[in-house]
Amino acid sequence: PQPLRIALAGLGTVGAGVIRLIEANSALIARRAGRPIAVTVVGARDRGKDRGVDLTRYAWEDDMVIMGERADVDVVVEMVGGSDGPALACARTTIEAGKALVTANKAMIAHHGLELAAKAEAARVALKFEAAVAGGIPVIKGLREGAAANEIERVYGILNGTCNYILSTMEDSGRDFADVLAEAQAKGYAEADPAFDIEGTDAAHKLSILAAIAFGSSLDFAGVETSGITRLRAADIAQADALGYVIRLIGMADVMDGAEGKCLFQRVQPHLVPFDHPLAHVDGATNAVVAEGNFSGRLLFQGAGAGDGPTASAVVADLIDIARGEIGAPFSVPVAELEVMTTADA
Ligand code: NDP
Ligand code: HSE
Repeated sequence: PQPLRIALAGLGTVGAGVIRLIEANSALIARRAGRPIAVTVVGARDRGKDRGVDLTRYAWEDDMVIMGERADVDVVVEMVGGSDGPALACARTTIEAGKALVTANKAMIAHHGLELAAKAEAARVALKFEAAVAGGIPVIKGLREGAAANEIERVYGILNGTCNYILSTMEDSGRDFADVLAEAQAKGYAEADPAFDIEGTDAAHKLSILAAIAFGSSLDFAGVETSGITRLRAADIAQADALGYVIRLIGMADVMDGAEGKCLFQRVQPHLVPFDHPLAHVDGATNAVVAEGNFSGRLLFQGAGAGDGPTASAVVADLIDIARGEIGAPFSVPVAELEVMTTADA
């Protein structure tokens, strides 16, 4: 069978992880996908940088924006980052060229996901973003497909690995915030600008995507009330501990009945979590998502929320779906059928 030919836009933590995974598991992936998945083209800013992977067997493309227009590419994987700029231009040209797009970029999906999904639906190409929410946890697939038969009223969880790493490490060791953040950056968990992590914006991006998938509602990133962990200190963690709690940055979205129909309440903020709650035991860069379905009951998805291997695992799972010919609406229903809800007042 013809291989599915992949272009990798971005070769940082996630991009290099995708190369390592595809090289390590190529035979298994080909069996499960029904055909080989072959990287043909790669690109990033600096061609000379050592990324710990051998790039000599791939063509190099300097311009992320035209990757999807190349004749040797069927699918582009966007791992550049940023809500706009080259990532968005790359996504648009790829879909407009009639090629599938896989992305790990939650900022771009939170801001432009509806536009890209509408374009992908019109072009009948796949747009997939499993890696954008909760790293290696197949939570988009789990909610979009596994829980598809359920009404979901609430979805919540720990959505940022960097913050969870900081909070749980400070809790265990009493170490300083800045010191632990630097460690999370060195491990590849943090965003290029870690303010997105510690100010709660990254978790808000993910929550808005998760809510749209869980509720079949229109994306509403602007409606997420957000506060991060920048003002938390070791003393706060110690005081919470004395009262029987840990502190976790939690994103929570609920659908409520309002005067004018359904409304959506989305917020990201540090919470006091009692020791006996399952989220209190989620440590390190782990994420956990809880969804309550009206027939499934409580679903808990837990696993590594950041880092090269887990994120690459989610990216390549999307590629396997595409190799199998799965297109489907990028969200739970086609964009035109997503329910537009008002934003609930706090
Ligand atoms: P990195 O900063 O490690 O890598 C970004 C890559 O994009 C680098 O290879 C960089 O090139 C390239 N790049 C940046 N700007 C440009 C540009 N203008 N033109 C061409 N190439 C460019 O980021 P990550 O790999 O950590 O993250 C990538 C995406 O995945 C982001 O959207 C992030 O939010 C998301 N993500 C990250 C996770 C993680 O755990 N790290 C988990 C889930 C999602 P160069 O190397 O030459 O500088
Ligand atoms: N910076 C993100 C985090 C990467 O720490 O969760 C995974 O999306």
